[in-house]
Amino acid sequence: MNKTILITGSTDGIGKLAAIKLAQDGHQIYLHGRNSDKLTRVIAELKTITGNQSIDGFVSDFSSLTQVKIMADNINNKLSKIDILINNAGVFKSTESQTEDGIDVRIVVNYYASYLLTTLLIDKLKASNQSKIINLSSAAQSSVSMGLLDGSLTVSDQEAYAQSKLSLLMWSYHLAKQEPSIAVVALNPGSLLDTNMVREAYGKSWSSADKGADIIYDLAITHLSEDIDGKYFDNDKGDFGLAHPDASDDMKISTLINYTKSQIEKLL
Ligand SMILES: NC(=O)c1ccc[n+]([C@@H]2O[C@H](COP(=O)([O-])OP(=O)(O)OC[C@H]3O[C@@H](n4cnc5c(N)ncnc54)[C@H](OP(=O)(O)O)[C@@H]3O)[C@@H](O)[C@H]2O)c1
Repeated sequence: MNKTILITGSTDGIGKLAAIKLAQDGHQIYLHGRNSDKLTRVIAELKTITGNQSIDGFVSDFSSLTQVKIMADNINNKLSKIDILINNAGVFKSTESQTEDGIDVRIVVNYYASYLLTTLLIDKLKASNQSKIINLSSAAQSSVSMGLLDGSLTVSDQEAYAQSKLSLLMWSYHLAKQEPSIAVVALNPGSLLDTNMVREAYGKSWSSADKGADIIYDLAITHLSEDIDGKYFDNDKGDFGLAHPDASDDMKISTLINYTKSQIEKLL
């Protein structure tokens, strides 16, 4: 059956490749990008490649939570339900390491934006009788410092990225418990996949970007998607696996979620 699928950060990299695979099956696809012209080009490109005309998109720069809220409002006005939300947009290196609000850009784009978007779209996900959320984490996971979340601490690009990705993972586990009707999975799509992010960060890659797109597709649609709720899929191992120990610590998760809520309120 055709599904309504929203994939953030799908103007490039593994998000775009996953969108192509999902569009080839005839689903209603909503792309997202930060650049309006690029988004329009990619929508047209995907329609041509896949023959699927049910492809549309939303623009929002996730380094601004105000823009995330506007995008969520637009989606809520336009869509009656969302079957699959893929929180894929992410950044590692950036010319500006902090947003205009003085918070690390990885924390805002990779974690706060996904948290806020999902929270604002939760009723549309509940309107589907079998909804799923796939959160793009990483093998890079590092204990989260509240100072990084509130902008009082600065760390290296790698450390900020790893803290943003563990934040997203810890929130995924929390969300899975909080919303039993929605299946929530956190995913490391594979390390050093050949995308812009990896080329800019490391100047080399270990695997093709298709490896990441294929596992997103599988967790979204195939038999692998049937038992994903509250789990972490580690595509370096090709199986569900154990995440960083902090993701199993309920006290740490609770502290993170409370702090996240208060910071997002301040930023809106
Ligand atoms: N590649 C890997 O090896 C790897 C490993 C582990 C996890 N991941 C995760 O997988 C996800 C996709 O990464 P990728 O490797 O495919 O990277 P990518 O090729 O750089 O694609 C990132 C996507 O996010 C969008 N994006 C970046 N900053 C944004 C912002 N401020 N607002 C809105 N959208 C923004 C990009 O838009 P533009 O098209 O405008 O650039 C692009 O569509 C990320 O969450 C990443 O952390 C990747």
